[in-house]
Amino acid sequence: MKTLAGKIAVITGSGRDTGIGKGIAMAFADAGCNVVISDIGVAKDHRFDESHIGTTDEMNAIVQEAKDKGVDAIAIACDVRRESEVKNLISSTVEHFGAIDIMVNNAGIGYLMEPLVEFKEESWDAVLEVNLKGAFLCTKHSAINMIAKGNGGRIINIASQAAKSGFPFAAAYTASKHGMIGLTRSNAVELGEHKITVNAVCPNHITTGLGQWQNEFFSEKMGMNYDDYIQGIRDRVPLGRVGLVDDIAKACIFLASDQADYITGEALNVSGGEEMH
Ligand SMILES: NC(=O)c1ccc[n+]([C@@H]2O[C@H](COP(=O)([O-])OP(=O)(O)OC[C@H]3O[C@@H](n4cnc5c(N)ncnc54)[C@H](O)[C@@H]3O)[C@@H](O)[C@H]2O)c1
Repeated sequence: MKTLAGKIAVITGSGRDTGIGKGIAMAFADAGCNVVISDIGVAKDHRFDESHIGTTDEMNAIVQEAKDKGVDAIAIACDVRRESEVKNLISSTVEHFGAIDIMVNNAGIGYLMEPLVEFKEESWDAVLEVNLKGAFLCTKHSAINMIAKGNGGRIINIASQAAKSGFPFAAAYTASKHGMIGLTRSNAVELGEHKITVNAVCPNHITTGLGQWQNEFFSEKMGMNYDDYIQGIRDRVPLGRVGLVDDIAKACIFLASDQADYITGEALNVSGGEEMH
């Protein structure tokens, strides 16, 4: 069934081949949704080198994959830290498709992990700027358009298990993801009168580029080999496996669909039961 037939969705951070954003975009395309594949595109400074970002070539290839599923798709490069670029993302989407129905705030960085007492100010700023300010700016500018159109809308924030629990070496990441839940709740209250729902999805461990980097980081810190570390995750997850990109995509389809009309301000754990509050 084409649950999202004819809808228009923007997914930030969806230009990395193994990422959650790409998985959401492909699932949306399978559900009949037209998609904007958006990512930073080019390395901008030493904190955003190509090994951690979705490049322009990757974005264009993902657009083609979506089109092969029979929907319309375009790539728009956007650094979510920059309001002018976010404005352009939304105005270019509306210029091409006529509207925006669904905004998925997925862009995030998780590779700046340092002990608290050594945490650099520039690392803190970089993480907060992408993970939290980026979601704020994208929500603001998509909401302006959704309100003007008067047809409601959906905002979906990809938060984390780190939005509910604390993690070592991750002060900035954990604070940014907890902040994302605050943003979700505040925006849900404010945008309800416009029939715009705002919800967060909280994954635990998914072996994307970011996920693999974090798994390697933590296994090394704990003096474990990688496979034993992953087995440790399986052992503590009630459903007995690590998460998959598709698990997150399915939750997003639900929240974007008519089935979730009366759900807003929620932060949905998709963690196989590892996180329960
Ligand atoms: N993988 C996991 O285990 C996991 C768990 C919980 C939450 N998450 C969250 O899921 C989201 C997607 O992560 P992922 O695991 O797919 O990693 P990923 O690295 O594959 O995807 C993150 C994307 O964000 C993009 N990005 C980074 N800075 C940007 C900027 N300034 N502007 C625009 N885009 C930018 C990157 O280029 C990349 O494509 C992130 O918000 C992450 O925090 C991931």
